[in-house]
Amino acid sequence: MRRMIQTLAALALLGLLGAAAVVGLGLYNVSAQVGHMPGVSWVLHTTFRNSVKLRAPSMEAAPDLSDPDLVALGAGHYATACAPCHASPGTDRSATMRAMNPVPPRIEEAIGDWAPNHLHWIVENGVKMSGMPAWPAAHRGDEVWAVVAYLVALREGTAGDLPTDGPEGEARA
Ligand code: HEC
Repeated sequence: MRRMIQTLAALALLGLLGAAAVVGLGLYNVSAQVGHMPGVSWVLHTTFRNSVKLRAPSMEAAPDLSDPDLVALGAGHYATACAPCHASPGTDRSATMRAMNPVPPRIEEAIGDWAPNHLHWIVENGVKMSGMPAWPAAHRGDEVWAVVAYLVALREGTAGDLPTDGPEGEARA
């Protein structure tokens, strides 16, 4: 029993020394050109999906997402806040955005099969360590619902073209 405890303690110490070396000596390659080690992407993405599902708000909090005015407002938000990374529907992302790791998926792919309340959580909170930002204005869940209304309309094929100016007349990035 004592032998086993000593072995476990030695292994724990070795693990700690290894971790300290990776952090302290810069052994981990943070280059965006180098992909993750096998399995790591799967672990990160599965953690992300389950984290979103656990925390998403109730659909009872949602306004009428089929309201055309809300969809139009969301299209304006999308043009300024999202299109620089996820591109306008039907177009591809810039070469710089495609050099990110992870690469922002094209918006049709990003929406995937996420439910509207899941999309709300993702857009409001962003995704840590991925480049996906949080919604810039705190406590503006209403603005986020407008973006979600646009994303749902896009998936259903009822969204119109993006405006060339944002909701406040800002130039589109
Ligand atoms: C700075 C670039 C950037 C901006 C701006 C941005 N995103 Fe993202 N987004 C990303 C990246 C990178 C990911 C991929 C995260 C991953 O794969 O782990 C992502 C992921 C997502 C996902 C989840 C896709 C999945 O893997 O299931 C959705 C949905 C999404 N973004 C929607 C939006 C919307 C809507 C906006 C605008 C409010 C937006 N994003 C703004 C970079 C961006």
